[in-house]
Parts: sequence; C-alpha cells; structure tokens
Amino acid sequence: MNSKRKKIIADFTQNPVTAQAYANIALIKYWGKRSVELNLPAVGSISLTLDALKTTTTLQFDESLESDTLHLDHRNVAGKPLERITQFLDTAVQTGDRPKAKIVSSNSFPTGAGLASSASGFAALAVAVNEAMNLHLTKEELSILARQGSGSAARSIYGGFAEMMCGTSLDDDQDDFAIQLEDESYWDLRLLIAVTSTDKKETGSTEGMVRTAKSSPFYTGWVESQQADLDEMRRAIKKKNFAKVGELTEHSCFKMHGLAMSGRPPLLYWNGATTEMIHTIWNLRTKGTAAYITMDAGPQVKVLCQPGNSELVKQAMLSVKGVKQIIEAKPGPGAAIVTDNQIKVKNS
Ligand code: DP6
Repeated sequence: MNSKRKKIIADFTQNPVTAQAYANIALIKYWGKRSVELNLPAVGSISLTLDALKTTTTLQFDESLESDTLHLDHRNVAGKPLERITQFLDTAVQTGDRPKAKIVSSNSFPTGAGLASSASGFAALAVAVNEAMNLHLTKEELSILARQGSGSAARSIYGGFAEMMCGTSLDDDQDDFAIQLEDESYWDLRLLIAVTSTDKKETGSTEGMVRTAKSSPFYTGWVESQQADLDEMRRAIKKKNFAKVGELTEHSCFKMHGLAMSGRPPLLYWNGATTEMIHTIWNLRTKGTAAYITMDAGPQVKVLCQPGNSELVKQAMLSVKGVKQIIEAKPGPGAAIVTDNQIKVKNS
C-alpha cells in the first residue's frame, strides 16, 4: 500500500469527489484496543450494514486553502472532530505537505448519539480520498484506511454482513481489515432503531474502551471469549438460522454492556427508555415474536427481526415512553463513489 501512495501528490484532483457510506450495526461487538495509537482492535467483530443510516461526504482538495475545513450537517465544525479528520487525511496521504481539504458531510440520522456516524463517516471519507488522490486501494486496503479513522468504519466498506479481522501485532496493522461475509441481497432482515435521545453521548467509544480495558476485572474474559462468538455467528449466518443469530447478537451486546458497567467509574450508556424497551422486546418474545436487542455506545435500542414481524415489533417499540423516532433499516450496500447521481462501486 505504501508504494502506491508515494506518487499520489502529482496525481490528485482538485475537483470535488462525493462518496456515500452506510453505518453498520455490530452483531458481535468490537470493544477494546490492542493499540490505541494505531487503532488496532483487541477483538474481531461481525456486523450488518444498514441502508437507512447514510453519510454523504464531498471532499475537495484545494491548494489555496490554509487548513482543512469541515461542514457537518449544515454547520461548520472545528476542534476535535476536525482534528480527527486532519489526522486521518495526513495518514491517508502520508505526506506532511498535502493540499488542504474542504469536507462537506451530512448524515441521514442523528450524529454522535450511538448510531455509528463515525463508521459511515470514515468509510465515506476513505472512499473519497482514495478517489481524489488516485490511490487505487483494494477493498481490504480501504478497510484498513477506514479503520484508522474509526474501528467500526472498516466494516462499512462492505454491504451486508462483514467481519472485522483482528491481527496480533502491536505495531503493524496489515491484518486488521474487514472482509465481506455475505452481500446485502443475501438475507432480507429488518433492524428497527428506537431513538430515545439525540443528545451527544458523554463518553465516546474510544474513551470507554480504554477505561474498560484498564479497570474492568472482566476484560480478559471478554477478549478470550470473543472467538467462540465469532465462530458461532459466522455459522448461524451461513445457515440463515435467525433465532441463533438473534440470541448471539443479544449475548454479545449484553456482554459488552456488562463489561462497560464493570469499569471504574462505571459506564452506563442506557436511559430509562432503553431499559423499558429491553423488557418490552423480551415480553414480545415470550409471546412468540422473534425479535432481538442490540445497543452500542449510546441509549438507542436496535431490534433485529424478520420482515413479516417488523410492523408488530415497531408498534410495540412505539408504545415505550421516551421513544422519539423509529428508524427502519434493511441490509445496506457498501461504500461507493457517487457520480452523476449514479453510484459507482470502486475497487470491486
Ligand atoms: C459499541 O468504532 O466508534 O459500536 O475505533 O475508537 O472509533 P473507535 O470506536 P468505534 O467503536 C464502536 C463500538 C461499538 C461496537 C461496534 O460497532 O462493534
């Protein structure tokens, strides 16, 4: 990858480049890093990309700019989010004197509230910088690049089911990329997202992971038990065994949240509506409706179900006090360049 990146500066375009990417939901969760500096995961993970959570990003390198600029969801953004993007572009381009960039990005969903905006955001940016700088990266190289922005972004390069691989080296990231398990047309499922708060989360995933690894007595058990969950989930997806996929999804989610709660100080991402929703879905299940819960670093509850049950599950979710909105998602496509209103999948 490095040799390809060396010649890019002569080659880059100053024309705007637009990319789209979709957030993903981890069915087997990523939580913990073996290197914070290189953003290397401590565990593998398995996800489903979602069609309803889309980020559209336009990137334009411009030699007349003095610094990078970020316009996110119709607002100019400075500070940490912009620094993270500058660092990402520096890593991608691998030269100190790259042209500065103007980035205009928008999400079709609330940003920073645990709906994986960093996953779709960095996947879209990786695809855009690849195009603008003529890097000619493969999917795996794109996934490595996206991962440097945010671990979960590595999976959003792909549509459908993806698995993030976890290497062992502490100073090399060439084994830490995602692969596609099945594409978005493989299995018609629904993921219903109950938005219970649109506030920005108090403790971001990165900080939460670091705290958990440092202070939870359960952290070693979490890391050691992950491989078995990944193996089982891969098999369940292959067999389209919905009950098994659902049961494993809930198990991984509650194991991650239990782990986070066991940190010092404890990390609790839930609010009252989150807890109420858990009971509502479990109650529905005892009455025979197959629906399974998952949650990330925020208070939103995501419920996995089959298309025939989605209306019934949605109505039950809407009955929970504090639910602001239900977003219904299907398996979504991978990150791609947008050209003349047509999506051209790059590097397939
Ligand atoms: C709970 O990918 O946001 O959503 O690599 O530090 O940017 P960084 O973390 P991030 O973490 C996602 C955590 C999670 C579970 C998951 O998506 O696997």
